[in-house]
Amino acid sequence: MRMTVLGATGSIGCSTADVMQRHPDKFSAFALVGHQNDEKMLELANRLHPEWVVMTDAAAAKRLQGKLPSGARLESGMDAAVELSAAAETDMVMAAMVGSAGLPATLSAVRAGKRVGLANKECLVTAGNIFMQAARESGAEVVPVDSEHAAVHQCMQGHDYNSITQVILTASGGPFRQRDPATLHTVTPEEAVAHPNWDMGAKISVDSATMMNKALELIEARWLFDLTPEKLSAVIHPESIVHAMVEYRDGSVLAQLAMPDMRMPIAYAMQAEPRLDSGIAWLDLAKTGSLSFQAVDNERFPAMALVQQVMQGENSLSIAFNAANEVANAAFRQRTIRFTDIVSTVEKVLSQVDNVRVGTLDEVWLYDEQARIMANEVISA
Ligand SMILES: NC(=O)c1ccc[n+]([C@@H]2O[C@H](COP(=O)([O-])OP(=O)(O)OC[C@H]3O[C@@H](n4cnc5c(N)ncnc54)[C@H](OP(=O)(O)O)[C@@H]3O)[C@@H](O)[C@H]2O)c1
Repeated sequence: MRMTVLGATGSIGCSTADVMQRHPDKFSAFALVGHQNDEKMLELANRLHPEWVVMTDAAAAKRLQGKLPSGARLESGMDAAVELSAAAETDMVMAAMVGSAGLPATLSAVRAGKRVGLANKECLVTAGNIFMQAARESGAEVVPVDSEHAAVHQCMQGHDYNSITQVILTASGGPFRQRDPATLHTVTPEEAVAHPNWDMGAKISVDSATMMNKALELIEARWLFDLTPEKLSAVIHPESIVHAMVEYRDGSVLAQLAMPDMRMPIAYAMQAEPRLDSGIAWLDLAKTGSLSFQAVDNERFPAMALVQQVMQGENSLSIAFNAANEVANAAFRQRTIRFTDIVSTVEKVLSQVDNVRVGTLDEVWLYDEQARIMANEVISA
């Protein structure tokens, strides 16, 4: 299978490279797409020998000129990523750019009917209706890479969809699950990115600390599995061993368990059956000892209360929810705002947004841009 990896230089991209290298008989790199990290890209290109290397940032592409292994052609810009994602030579696209920047190339792959491993949850949060409609029309297979959604996917196999009563995503609770809420305003970016169980990129690590990540995942699950908000919930599970559960009408609850290592859901998305060796450690439950679960505290994690309002509304709200969060998350990492200002910024933006159905990509970008402007206004007020 020839792979195009969007966001190849990131955490998911590098884990994908690891799985590919374990199975050179099954996977080869057609195109690797990064943004600014030319050094990581050079290392990946030397390991995977892609036919194409794209840096969406022109300066980063320039830094790579003359350095790539023979046979690898270099391009820059998002248009090249969009084109290669739909190219006849691409069998599967791993969609692992971060943020709504990942939407054009991922949608291009979906429209071309590719198998798409979807890590970029922001695609579905901003344009779930457009994205899933495009998949239905082209016959593209969209396979979740987010560990929780990959778990749900596995728990649904061979079971009657109409018998599902509840889909429950687990959440680790991040690094501040037990921290005194009165001190959350003093949290530093370094503390927020230090996730207790998962090794992830900076943006999603901060999203995990605010639980904005779980909020975005609930919206993602809604589109991926075509579920009403009433059938979706989350529970805190600090050990991150159970990734999700699906409850059926007869009271049976199926869960998927694995060590917290993204190579498992990545390998599952790349080839579900027969299963691939993903390289993750074996789960030893006797060693784990106990698995615990707690209700989500919406006061500690206001993003989880906010997402209920977003899921009851139209998608203009989820576009704004995501865009305002991207702006506020970045502002916190740049030390412009406090940790507790992230969700309050999103809340203030949401209060200004009209609740309307957004049906085209142009409109998505319009609402996205509008929410970014509002978020910047809130931040600088
Ligand atoms: N990490 C996880 O465990 C995990 C789990 C579930 C879902 N996800 C989802 O997977 C996606 C990627 O997460 P990650 O943790 O791998 O992030 P990451 O480590 O920060 O990597 C992000 C990737 O996106 C590229 N990128 C950044 N800004 C871009 C832009 N404006 N245009 C094009 N490309 C851009 C980066 O390129 P450069 O580095 O070259 O600049 C990098 O390749 C996110 O949507 C996240 O929510 C991640």
